[in-house]
Formats: sequence, structure tokens, C-alpha cells
Amino acid sequence: MHTHSVTTLKDAPTNPAAGFPSQQLRTQEEIPVRNRLTSIHWQRFSVPFEYPVAFTHGLFRQQNPLLVEMLSLHKEEKQHRCLIYIDDGVAKTQPDLVERIQDYFAAHASRMKLVEAPQVVPGGEQIKICPSHVIAVQKAIHRLGVDRHSYVIAIGGGAVLDAIGFAAATAHRGVRHIRVPSTVLSQNDSGVGVKNGINFNGVKNFMGSFAPPWAVLNDFTLLKTLERRERIGGIAEAVKVALIRDEEFFDWMETNVEQLKAFDPETEEIMIRRGAALHMRQIAHGGDPFEQGSGRPLDFGHWSAHRLEAMTRHEVHHGEAVAIGIALDARYSVLAGLLPEGEELRIVELLEGLGLRTFHPQLIELLQKANPPYSRAWVNFRSIWEGS
Ligand SMILES: NC(=O)c1ccc[n+]([C@@H]2O[C@H](COP(=O)([O-])OP(=O)(O)OC[C@H]3O[C@@H](n4cnc5c(N)ncnc54)[C@H](O)[C@@H]3O)[C@@H](O)[C@H]2O)c1
Ligand SMILES: [Zn+2]
Repeated sequence: MHTHSVTTLKDAPTNPAAGFPSQQLRTQEEIPVRNRLTSIHWQRFSVPFEYPVAFTHGLFRQQNPLLVEMLSLHKEEKQHRCLIYIDDGVAKTQPDLVERIQDYFAAHASRMKLVEAPQVVPGGEQIKICPSHVIAVQKAIHRLGVDRHSYVIAIGGGAVLDAIGFAAATAHRGVRHIRVPSTVLSQNDSGVGVKNGINFNGVKNFMGSFAPPWAVLNDFTLLKTLERRERIGGIAEAVKVALIRDEEFFDWMETNVEQLKAFDPETEEIMIRRGAALHMRQIAHGGDPFEQGSGRPLDFGHWSAHRLEAMTRHEVHHGEAVAIGIALDARYSVLAGLLPEGEELRIVELLEGLGLRTFHPQLIELLQKANPPYSRAWVNFRSIWEGS
């Protein structure tokens, strides 16, 4: 089992571009006309999207020009207006951050301006559970005259980026939004993507939008205060993207499991950069950036993850739930004939080697209710496995 390589799931059906009607009916003449009063005119245009994803150390060091350059991408000479939100997990553990941000703005005052002092918001799922936080940001955008040429900057984990990103995307139908991810997960996955959202009625990400950001600025120094649990949990998304798209990366993680677990800075950076690059490539070239089809390969491991998070009232965090979901989907892949028998064990070994759990008791409850016979077979497999 240890000697052969993991077959990646990249050949699994991905259902790109779910086939717009306009692609099937190319001209008006081809459209069957039901009666003389009916005519259909296809509106069609495409807009290219691009945004920079940068990696740096010390984004708010006065000599670091990255942020000011990102604000000035289209219009340099202006004094750009910014509204900043900070995850309270970051603000509490890096108490000098607000002052460093204010000093940075003061040092570059001709090019940038804070419309008010940086605001601290609840970190983690707390900010996504209740729409009041999004509404408060929208009120501030209104009150402070933040327009479509100003910037809303969010510094935080995936949850804060999701909530502030949603507020920015829906105020004035979209104000410029810069993400400064502060967790391993958000730097290698959620922060570089195009989605945002909050939970509603207990359903994860029920309210949200697809909104490419203005820029993503990954500052590795922000990670230094992240709790061990979060720092490990975020690696699950890198394992996921390796499994669906990059076998070599998977092998590399196996080789470097100890360094990853010990947060060796160089190894952690390589993992984040490569995870981010793979997520970016999948979004740009996977054929379905706005997830209109049902393939969604980046959701590998996520079917059960989202449910488990909700069932445990977020006691199981997203990355942790994804690790459990990967173990489930790996076994599911074997049962579906997409992965050779035995290779799922290697995946589980990597996850557990990193210190991630691959099982949660409430999964049984979830799977017993689930429809496909595969899920029930998995429950059966797990009991044999645990018993062995
Ligand atoms: N939009 C997407 O495409 C996408 C993709 C994956 C995940 N997500 C979402 O991201 C969320 C999970 O994000 P996450 O794993 O980044 O965790 P998180 O945002 O839930 O944050 C975890 C904890 O870490 C704290 N924290 C954040 N940065 C810190 C730092 N530098 N130092 C100390 N504490 C810090 C937070 O306050 C919080 O308590 C979930 O809501 C998930 O649904 C979104
Ligand atoms: Zn995820």
C-alpha cells in the first residue's frame, strides 16, 4: 500500500460549463418558434476577470509598497479611501496591528486614507451565523460614503473574509474588496477564490455571491499567532486540491509531514503557495468559475463537511470537517470505482499524520440518513476498519 502512488481523482467527471442554452441554440433561426407572437433574442457577452494574488511578509511595514500599489492599480495619483475590518482573533493576538495600519496610512497619506479607524469584528463562524454583522458593514459603507471606487479591506480568517466580502459585494452592487487572509486555510484556499457568503437558518453559506476580489494579499507573518488547531486544519484544503489536481504535491506533503506539522516556515509557505496556485488554476481553467454546473471538484470532501459543521454547531471547524469529508469521499471513490482499493488508506494516513481526525461519531448519523448505498457501505467499512 505504501509503495504505489495515489491515483489522483483528476480523471473523474467534472461537468465543466454545464451547457448554456445559448451554446445549443446558436442562431435565432434554430429556435423553434411556437407561435408568431414569440421570439427569443439571446443576450450574450463575456467579461474577463483578473486580480492579483500576492505573497508577502509584513504587509503593514512602512517600507512595503504592496498595499499602496494595489490600491493604485488603475489610478495612481489619487488618495484612495479605505474602510478596514479586522478579525478579532487577529486583533487580540496582534494588539499593535491597528496602530501599525494607521502608521502605514500616515506614511503614505498622499495615496491612501482611512475613512475611519479600523474596526474589529467577531472572528470565526460567529460572524457568519447572524446577518447583523453584514448589515452593520453595509450601514458603515453608506454612512461613510464608501463608493464603488473606494476599498473595503478585510483582514482575517475565511469566515471574516466571507462575511465582509458579501457585504462589499452587495453594497452599491459591489464595492472594491481587498482580502488579507490570516489563516492557513484562507491563504491557500478560500481567500484566493471568488465566493463569499454567510449562513442562514442553519445552512452553511446559504446567502452569498460570486464576486472576484480586487486583490488578495497573503501576508505570512499574520500566521504567527494562529492557534495550532487552525494552523493544522487549514492544511486539509491543500490535501484536497492535491488529490484532485496534483499527485506530486500529494507525494511532497507525505514526505514533509513532520515539517508541516511543526510549522517549519519554509515548508508551510511552499504548501500555501502551491495550494493557492492550484485553487487559482482550477477556478481559472476548470471551466466553471461560478459553479453553474454540478461537478465542482473543489468541493471534494465538502458534502459531509458542511453538514457535520452544522450538526456539531461548528464545534468541528471547517478544515477539520474537510479532513473527515476527504476520508469519506476517498472511500466513496473506491466504492464508485474511481480510486483503486487500498489507496484511500494512504490518504487517511497523511491526514492523521498531520494530526487531523478522519472520523467523527456524528458522521454515522448523517450517513445512515443518506441515500446512496455507498454511504451505508462506508459505515460498514469504517466499523470493520476500526475493529481491525
Ligand atoms: N469562500 C470560499 O470559497 C470558502 C472556501 C473554504 C472555506 N470557506 C469558509 O471559511 C471559513 C473557515 O475559515 P478559516 O479556516 O480561515 O477559519 P475562521 O475564519 O473560522 O477562523 C478561525 C479562528 O481563527 C481566528 N484567527 C484568524 N486569523 C488569526 C490569526 N492570524 N491569529 C490568531 N487567530 C486568528 C479567528 O478569529 C477564528 O477564531 C468557513 O466559514 C468556511 O465556510 C470559504
Ligand atoms: Zn472548504
